[in-house]
Amino acid sequence: MLKKKAKIAVLVSGGGTNLQALIDAQNNGIIVSGQIDLVISNKEGAFALTRAKNANIKTYTVLKKKLGSQENFENEIIRILDENEIDVIVLAGFMSILSEKFTSRYEKRILNVHPSLIPSFCGEGFYGLHVHEAALKKGVKVTGATVHFVNEIPDGGEIIMQKAVDVEDGDTPEILQKRVMERAEWIILPASTEKVCKEIISK
Ligand code: GAR
Repeated sequence: MLKKKAKIAVLVSGGGTNLQALIDAQNNGIIVSGQIDLVISNKEGAFALTRAKNANIKTYTVLKKKLGSQENFENEIIRILDENEIDVIVLAGFMSILSEKFTSRYEKRILNVHPSLIPSFCGEGFYGLHVHEAALKKGVKVTGATVHFVNEIPDGGEIIMQKAVDVEDGDTPEILQKRVMERAEWIILPASTEKVCKEIISK
């Protein structure tokens, strides 16, 4: 049966600028094949939760510390996703590595945005500002962002979209992070989400 829109859950940990880009894309008609149904944070009080509430999206906070183990943490997320019949999961600055048990359950249904051109500066330990610190330390002249499917290998799943961004003289990790977000992440994450949702609803 042809579904009207794929139901999207966005998983966050921090400021949520990528979540904001998804919300804006939904409002601007860039995302039409999916609908953000809920936001799950693994950090209490993350600003991303405020962004979701401002957009009238329901929110959940799931804390590993409170649940005692990675397994309980993931089971609680699965419970929420099942209860809401979620089709697509978008990791938007979600700073927790998910187990194979979790990722294999949603094969080609979990997207992640990473702030480099994979396979550079990725894998365990490469997240957030650290990625840009490593790029500057290496002296690369071009960096960018990647959206990929999530599998059991951190940042190892199939690439969906990439966009290159120039490194400029005098860049700090913060300046470079901002340029990569503005010129790459906030464009390719909504575009990839629409692409995947469109494919899923046409199945
Ligand atoms: C983004 O730059 C995202 O690509 C990165 O964290 C930032 C989150 O910002 N994610 C990773 O490094 C994942 N490995 P946001 O909360 O403002 O979207």
